[in-house]
Amino acid sequence: MNKIKLGFLASHGGSNMQAIIDACKSGTINAVPVVVISNNSNSMALERARNEGIPAYHISQKKYPEPEDLDNAIIEVLEKYKVDIVILAGYMKKLGSKVINRFKGKILNIHPALLPKYGGEGMYGKFVHEAVIKNKEKESGCTVHIVDEIYDHGRILGQAKVPVFPDDTPEILAERVLEQEHRLYPEVIGKIANGEIVL
Ligand code: GRF
Repeated sequence: MNKIKLGFLASHGGSNMQAIIDACKSGTINAVPVVVISNNSNSMALERARNEGIPAYHISQKKYPEPEDLDNAIIEVLEKYKVDIVILAGYMKKLGSKVINRFKGKILNIHPALLPKYGGEGMYGKFVHEAVIKNKEKESGCTVHIVDEIYDHGRILGQAKVPVFPDDTPEILAERVLEQEHRLYPEVIGKIANGEIVL
């Protein structure tokens, strides 16, 4: 069976991207990372890509102030490497409609909460965990979903839960969730690669 080609978009650390790359390398999932794009020239994600010998591109609004030009630049690179699935891994910019339509139903994201709870505009990073703790939730977790035009809204492909303890800080909870993200994201991609999940 042909390996599915993964193209990543990441803004910062890229630890989820690394977990997926590692799963590809170990053969746990039948996929191959073919390109990494970041809007942040100093991102650890780009450094990780270079360390892994994966083509790395810096494509940002600074370089392409017109939204359509930015979308076209992203599409051009994803097409150049014949990407099958686009993996958002901590990509902090909203993807343009043109990119979403070109790869409709083939763009995945991971969100650090149990969607549909704690999603939507402004719900990212520590804001998610702060809200979960403030509402005294007993559990939280992470969600892999398909990206559409609405924030954190598309079809849910997988979730993992973690407990929330009364003395949790947002940082501690974020760490507990991130550990599960590193397990869940490769697992979902593996299921797509072996046909268990059909996009
Ligand atoms: C993760 O918490 C993920 O849920 C969110 O952004 C963060 C990315 O972390 N979408 P990393 O860059 O993969 O380390």
